[in-house]
Amino acid sequence: MTQLDEIRQAILNDDLDALAGLPVPDSYRGVTVRADEVGMFEGLPSQDKDPRRSLHVDDVPTPELGPGEALVAVMASAINYNTVWTSIFEPIPTFKFLERYGRISPLSKRHDLPYHVVGSDLSGVVLRTGAGVHNWKPGEEVVAHCLNVELEGPDGHNDTMLDTEQRIWGFETNFGGLAEIALVKANQLMPKPAHLTWEEAASPGLVNSTAYRQLVSRNGADLKQGDVVLIWGASGGLGSYATQYALNGGAIPVCVVSSPEKAEICRKLGAELIIDRNAEGYRFWKDEHEQDPREWQRFGAKIRELTGGEDPDIVFEHPGRETFGASVYAARKGGTIVTCASTSGYLHQYDNRYLWMNLKRIIGSHFANYRESWEANRLIAKGLIHPTLSRTYSLEDTGQAALDVHRNAHQGKVGVLALAPEEGLGVRDEQLRAKHLDAINAFRGA
Ligand SMILES: NC(=O)c1ccc[n+]([C@@H]2O[C@H](COP(=O)([O-])OP(=O)(O)OC[C@H]3O[C@@H](n4cnc5c(N)ncnc54)[C@H](OP(=O)(O)O)[C@@H]3O)[C@@H](O)[C@H]2O)c1
Repeated sequence: MTQLDEIRQAILNDDLDALAGLPVPDSYRGVTVRADEVGMFEGLPSQDKDPRRSLHVDDVPTPELGPGEALVAVMASAINYNTVWTSIFEPIPTFKFLERYGRISPLSKRHDLPYHVVGSDLSGVVLRTGAGVHNWKPGEEVVAHCLNVELEGPDGHNDTMLDTEQRIWGFETNFGGLAEIALVKANQLMPKPAHLTWEEAASPGLVNSTAYRQLVSRNGADLKQGDVVLIWGASGGLGSYATQYALNGGAIPVCVVSSPEKAEICRKLGAELIIDRNAEGYRFWKDEHEQDPREWQRFGAKIRELTGGEDPDIVFEHPGRETFGASVYAARKGGTIVTCASTSGYLHQYDNRYLWMNLKRIIGSHFANYRESWEANRLIAKGLIHPTLSRTYSLEDTGQAALDVHRNAHQGKVGVLALAPEEGLGVRDEQLRAKHLDAINAFRGA
């Protein structure tokens, strides 16, 4: 039995106290991109760049544990779009981030390597904690949020997202969650929701926290009861949580999706107002350079038709270039467009007259601070927000999992098993689970 098998077995046997006494292996399997392959897709259009070619499962050395850090035995992880970006080396190879991080201190220098272990979500069990960690100990079942901060300067002390050295773990740092072992800062750890399996618990983290800040937090759109919320990609990673938050908060989501199947999922979540952007055939761009305001108007009219004449108080933006002009147009007078991404292109174009004359606001939002992540995880743990896991892959098939997300062939979240030998393990609170089983499984098999 390898040392990792012993760790896995102790976890599966519920012998969690044993973990502190078991040796931590010198190496583990992790999903990597390699520095000597960053040019492999040169000349190809983005959609033809195949993560199955660039993502590898490699044996990598276990990093040395520093002060304030924790090593976690990863039972499961999930695919985020940032792993798609990393795997296609766009907009820049993530080795640039590691290099920059490596310049800060000898501790951060550990991250600057010719391979990058990716992944920004995990569920698992704490193996070891570094000096100065008091809140967590080996054997505790955890999930990790992906905010990595230094907080040595003043900027982040009101809102940790504003730290000048703010990074996303597993994207802008190394030793991420798509692996058998991960290195995190201890202040990334949060209790694993007891009613969920390992793969369910690992899946909300990044997108749930992001949607929480973007839509609910005062740092984002500060949603209130009755708000009409236009949600792009409403059955996708971010959107599936935004839709839940809108419904939970007494708001009225208008869900935009691209197929009848995705519309059905939104209905399952409880949304009633749905736009199938494919069926409607919107063409917001006439060509590469010019947009078509008549298409914005047609889109706005559709929203009014659904809402009984109201425009969105909030537009939950992330597709970017393709939709941003329409989003700014469609928001109501005084409304808010809150954006956290630019999947279809980051050079946006919109007609500023609609913004200033109608006193609209554009808010930039990025991940979430520890407090917001904790609150978002607490809602999962209480069964008030549910994971949106549709499918789970093995670590070896991470490339395929990332390809699904790259091709928009998935629903909600796509999970990855690490040390967990199969799905369905890790549930502690069967009673709470039974109460919410249908909601937990809403995206399954979709
Ligand atoms: N800043 C942050 O902290 C943060 C956090 C999480 C994610 N992100 C970014 O946010 C983006 C979305 O992430 P995700 O996890 O939600 O991805 P996802 O699971 O792929 O969902 C995105 C959804 O957006 C819709 N969409 C894609 N392209 C579109 C287009 N051109 N026009 C209209 N709708 C489009 C698709 O839904 P339909 O086809 O059904 O319309 C898709 O399912 C990514 O770029 C990601 O990197 C940023």
